[in-house]
Amino acid sequence: MSGRTCLTIVLAAGEGTRMRSSWPKVLHEVAGRSLLGHVLTAAANTSIAVVVGPAHDDVSADARVYAPQAQIFVQAERRGTAHAVLSAKAAIKQGADDILVIFGDTPLIRPQTLETLRAALGDGAAVAVLGFRPADPTGYGRLVTVGNELMAIVEHADATEKERAIPLCNGGLMAFDGKVALQILERIGNDNRKGEFYLTDAVKIARDMKRKAVALEVTEDEVSGINTKAQLAATEAIMQQRLRQAALEAGVTLVAPETVHLAADTKLGKDVTIEPYVVFGPGVTVDDGATIRSFSHLAGAHVGPNAIVGPYARLRPGAKLEESVHIGNFVEVKEATIEAGAKANHLSYIGDARVGAGANIGAGTITCNYDGAAKHRTDIGKGAFIGSNSALVAPVKIGDGAYVGSGSVITNDVPADALAIGRGRQTVKEGWAKRLRELKSLGKKMG
Ligand code: UD1
Ligand code: MG
Repeated sequence: MSGRTCLTIVLAAGEGTRMRSSWPKVLHEVAGRSLLGHVLTAAANTSIAVVVGPAHDDVSADARVYAPQAQIFVQAERRGTAHAVLSAKAAIKQGADDILVIFGDTPLIRPQTLETLRAALGDGAAVAVLGFRPADPTGYGRLVTVGNELMAIVEHADATEKERAIPLCNGGLMAFDGKVALQILERIGNDNRKGEFYLTDAVKIARDMKRKAVALEVTEDEVSGINTKAQLAATEAIMQQRLRQAALEAGVTLVAPETVHLAADTKLGKDVTIEPYVVFGPGVTVDDGATIRSFSHLAGAHVGPNAIVGPYARLRPGAKLEESVHIGNFVEVKEATIEAGAKANHLSYIGDARVGAGANIGAGTITCNYDGAAKHRTDIGKGAFIGSNSALVAPVKIGDGAYVGSGSVITNDVPADALAIGRGRQTVKEGWAKRLRELKSLGKKMG
């Protein structure tokens, strides 16, 4: 973008009462990322100022996750959108060429749209506004235009019948020429129905200053703000649609796209196949050629090239599968590296562990990583064979190439290439069962 600098002011001081939640509205999530996180990501190539309400430390903390350099400003009292923007006056004074104002609850905004809004400033507008045509315009500010020029924005509460009939509404996102932004903002008053300082008054003020204001029309999706849980769910559906489309375009095979739930940061390589009904939480990367089979749940995990996961597998944060690893049905992996070619195909828990290359983990193997107070590690050497239904009580080490007999409880380290059997010896009583049946048929009991 033409070398112009940009400050984005994100308004996130709202309470979000209509969410009926004890969480601040902008911390609710879509595709595993907070609403605020989406907005901050869209504005990632600009300087950022976030305006939060009083006692919203968690909102500030979330802002720092997605925009570590963001300046945070507190709006002590909610006195309107222009008042909120002026809470970030110190940032505006730093003199960026473009000033963008966006709302923290509009997660579908795209970076390209912000660029288009800024381009209008480059073309000489002092104020640029995003307009859209909602099915029901009630509540929105109406854009009063003459030709391509924007004359004013009239808030619904203050609009005349004639103005309310205007279908083009204010999406809420605005861009200001940095040279005049402060001058305009400081002239905004609160002489209106709600007694609030309306950011939208900036348009008329710019025109009074003989400066140009323009409106750019976008689809409703882009600017729709979330106020309720129903809107949150509807936005999730749109976001999922976008993410699936992007995955398909990047060469991922989604057998039944509508059943796959992605996170905003899911990274899927080439020739990856995702079978129906797979859920991705945040922080997952899947390398080229891997297959994620049905009903698997992954979060904070890395799947190496050509690995196979599932069906019914669960990869939790810190699961790292190297090349060609197989993780099968009802296997849970957490905070564990599974090295190349290792297999855990059935019914296992592998947590706080390393499984060496080519090792085989038998059905029902459990790493007992938790002693009720602390977590301990299990280290399984390369090529080791863990017999079915074994409990590896951590901290414990199984050497390279070692065997563990089925049904073992392993509490001590096993040397490389050794066999360890950690269970009682089998006893056999010849004829015992037959005698039991005979006594029963005579109505007697075993002595
Ligand atoms: C605003 C616009 C309206 C537009 C609509 C689009 C104004 C005056 N009106 O109305 O033209 O059609 O958005 O959705 O701008 N906020 C603060 N501090 C405040 C007030 C608001 O941080 O003192 C934040 C809110 O948390 C929210 C955003 O600013 O994220 C917009 O405020 P809201 O009250 O939703 O404005 P609307 O009445 O919807
Ligand atoms: Mg609103």
